[in-house]
Amino acid sequence: MAVASGKGGVGKSTVTVNLAAALARQGKKVGLIDADIYGFSVPDMMGIEEAPLVEEGEILPVERLGVKVMSMGFFIQDNNPVIWRGPMLGKMLRQFFSDVRWGELDYLLLDFPPGTGDIALDVHQMIPQSREIIVTTPHATAAFVAARAGTMALRTEHEVLGVVENMAYYECSKCGEKDFIFGRGGGARLAESLHTELLAQIPLGAPDNHPSEPDFSPSVYKAEATIGQLYDELAQRITLICEKD
Ligand SMILES: Nc1ncnc2c1ncn2[C@@H]1O[C@H](COP(=O)(O)OP(=O)(O)O)[C@@H](O)[C@H]1O
Ligand SMILES: [Mg+2]
Repeated sequence: MAVASGKGGVGKSTVTVNLAAALARQGKKVGLIDADIYGFSVPDMMGIEEAPLVEEGEILPVERLGVKVMSMGFFIQDNNPVIWRGPMLGKMLRQFFSDVRWGELDYLLLDFPPGTGDIALDVHQMIPQSREIIVTTPHATAAFVAARAGTMALRTEHEVLGVVENMAYYECSKCGEKDFIFGRGGGARLAESLHTELLAQIPLGAPDNHPSEPDFSPSVYKAEATIGQLYDELAQRITLICEKD
């Protein structure tokens, strides 16, 4: 299951890590590949500091919040940039599938590189088939850009599962009123244009996590948080779609 977007910064990685954690909370066996090789962010977002172990020539994914994670970030030191050409990128990504001991999984989530350029297209073609979630913000122009990602998914034989509208609104913590500060309706319109459904609307917010907690994950909402519950609902909706056939 791939998470894609028309451009960066819309919350693709945030949605991926939270969806992965929510699926794990439901007892699913979940893997996560940070396929945004140049722009990896999953280790930091999940607070992973340990490196994966290697056993009998196979890489063991690092487990966090019940999710088995693999990222380019595990192999880079001191936040250096990845300065590879395409063929190396492809090699790395293929290794994430073939040389990692995933064990049995119900879901393998991929945090895709943003956009519809060379890199995103390469990754789409490297993965023969996936069900894709398109992340957008509610702004009309963002949804317009995201539509291209959806179209690319369909042209490369991937199935679009639905749309997640992130940063959909701001809810006042005092009065509960919703402010649609980035506009309204972009997610629904995008879903309509891709003939798919709007799976979730996630508001603006930040997890209330503290570094002293065990399994501290800066970007992952807890199950009891309001936004954590929205991710639980998203995970339920997705398992319903995926497990009906
Ligand atoms: N719903 C949200 N509310 C507030 N900030 C968010 C939300 N979703 C994502 N962010 C923040 O926006 C930035 C971009 O999110 P990220 O998930 O890295 O996007 P992408 O992977 O699409 O580039 C990050 O700093 C992230 O913490
Ligand atoms: Mg990202």
